[in-house]
Amino acid sequence: MFDKFKDAVHVQRRSGLYRNPPRIHNRHGQYVTIGNRKVLNFASNDYLGLGFDEKLRQRVAANFMKYGTSSSSSRLVSGNYTVINEAEAIFADYFGYEDAIFFPSGYQANLAVFSTLFDRDSILLFDKHVHASCVKGMSLSRASLYGYNHGSMDHLRRRIERVMAVGAAVVTESLFSMDGDFLDTKALLDLKKEFDLFCVVDEAHAFGVSGKRGKGIAGDVASVAIGTLGKAFGLFGAFVLLSSALKEYFFNFSSPLIYTTALPEAHAASAVDSLETVSLSDDRRTRLKGVSAYMRGLLTDAGFHVTGDAHIVSVLIGDESLCSFISERLLQEKAILVLSARYPTVPVNRAVLRIGMTALHTEKDARYFVNSLKEVQRHIEKQGHLLCGRDGHGCR
Ligand SMILES: Cc1ncc(COP(=O)(O)O)c(C=O)c1O
Repeated sequence: MFDKFKDAVHVQRRSGLYRNPPRIHNRHGQYVTIGNRKVLNFASNDYLGLGFDEKLRQRVAANFMKYGTSSSSSRLVSGNYTVINEAEAIFADYFGYEDAIFFPSGYQANLAVFSTLFDRDSILLFDKHVHASCVKGMSLSRASLYGYNHGSMDHLRRRIERVMAVGAAVVTESLFSMDGDFLDTKALLDLKKEFDLFCVVDEAHAFGVSGKRGKGIAGDVASVAIGTLGKAFGLFGAFVLLSSALKEYFFNFSSPLIYTTALPEAHAASAVDSLETVSLSDDRRTRLKGVSAYMRGLLTDAGFHVTGDAHIVSVLIGDESLCSFISERLLQEKAILVLSARYPTVPVNRAVLRIGMTALHTEKDARYFVNSLKEVQRHIEKQGHLLCGRDGHGCR
């Protein structure tokens, strides 16, 4: 048995897919400390930089002093506190839904949504680039699954027509976590009306940042939406936005909600404090938008193959080992931390450097990143390797 695990890790290493994340000693602003080096961090999802916001930290600390540190049980036992229900109502109201449920993480929220709402009689049509937690949740549901090409509403339409999936559910993100591109909400809304679809939209990367006052972009089309508090909200945990009738259903039938200890009241109170901060953060959103566009422009001008419409900017590298090599070199030689996203996070041979921009980054940071990447690229090209998409070079 043990050999099986060792062999799997060995294969992972040989195929350039080995995971060995650096240990972060601490973080400060847009920097982290690794070993004793100050490293510029482009691998953070704390998009608004709220995770270290002085006022928010004080409010969160005060909440834990006031309410204690544990809810002591599941919502279905003695953990269904008024503070939590009131906080959920505030979230629902802000984002324009009837109700909400908090979860310990976005991953768990997605497991709950798909395993609770769907079963072997359901049909799920999903964008092929949805997050691993949606994929795992869908497989738990045992529904019939049909993938459509990333972002293609035409392919989705063909899928619906082919399986006669009137009344089926569509699963998508609103801002894709690795490609950084937006869902075409208008086209999806048209399909929803035409085919009576139920739309589950994961807005993990959009809530807090995109849309008016960070309200996301899919409010018009989502039947159920998922948000995380671990990214733009600078906290942890997650929320599902849904109708009151579905919330009642969850309390009766959702295993991932029923059989887990509720997050404590202090978390719910902190989520509300975070939401208030997010709602007042137009200045941060404007800065983030500006510096992200600046980064994208520099990378595009330098000839890189770039995707991303917002604060997630991805540079297509292609080969997995090459992508890890670039990420490693940027860290060792340029003190830059950037994620090399590889299979199965992205499709095989479509490895990307996934740049997470934050409101804390400056244009100088962006210039430093692009100049450093250009240097590493020159080194690679001297050795005869080409990045995917450069000079008409295709991926393997
Ligand atoms: C699209 C998407 N959904 C859900 C999650 C999971 O959220 P959490 O980190 O709160 O578990 C992530 C996390 O990376 C994500 O990218």
